[in-house]
Amino acid sequence: MILGVNIDHIATIRNARGEADPSLTAGAHICELSGADGITVHLREDRRHIKDKDLYLLKDILRLPLNLEMALNEDVLEHAIKSLPRMCTLVPEKREEITTEGGLEILSNVEKIKEYTGRLHEKGILVSLFIEADNSMLDVLNDIRPDFVEIHTGKYARNYYNEMERFYILKTFEKFTQNCIDIGIRVNAGHGLNYQNTSDIVKINGIEELNIGHAIIARAVFSGLGEAVREMKNIINSGRI
Ligand code: PXP
Repeated sequence: MILGVNIDHIATIRNARGEADPSLTAGAHICELSGADGITVHLREDRRHIKDKDLYLLKDILRLPLNLEMALNEDVLEHAIKSLPRMCTLVPEKREEITTEGGLEILSNVEKIKEYTGRLHEKGILVSLFIEADNSMLDVLNDIRPDFVEIHTGKYARNYYNEMERFYILKTFEKFTQNCIDIGIRVNAGHGLNYQNTSDIVKINGIEELNIGHAIIARAVFSGLGEAVREMKNIINSGRI
């Protein structure tokens, strides 16, 4: 199983000041040097995380594969087609949400998803659909033929400390993963995964990649904060007579 690091929240911190720090590309490099297997970013309609030029910069400098999360939005699709990430993950998007809530509503959007899948495939871009693990969707998935689905693990993460619920959700993920693989669709997973709940997901055979963002950036604030304060103290202390 491999790790795609979602670095959107580096951009969130940068945007709080509207200047250049912390650098998204430097962040991507550190992820790469630290063992990440891929980088994920979400070009939202409201551009609240990464901006258009971040996408092109990342594509230019990254050696790791880039996974672009995007809504069914024509403007963002055009950026995907121009920037050529390895993969696009189609996600639902609501302006007022704090983070991606729920999976893509496939049934009400079949034709549009097919159209987007086709247009991305024409450019050699892999397509993943971010969805709930729902076995009743297998026929329509078979019709759309994405390369991957990404199982939305948000409900699992929220219910992690309820043992019965956790057990049930993990069984659902296992079965859904196997069913997708049986029809030739590969499986990723993500959302809400953290330093407590990821190890149970790792045990599921067949899931190829985990996309993890918030927990890693949140941990970085603490695991890197001590060093940042010490470095600043050193600079200040070295000026002392
Ligand atoms: N996968 C998808 C499709 C997402 O939309 C997100 C959130 O942007 C993630 C994974 C990562 O979720 P988290 O930040 O909770 O790790």
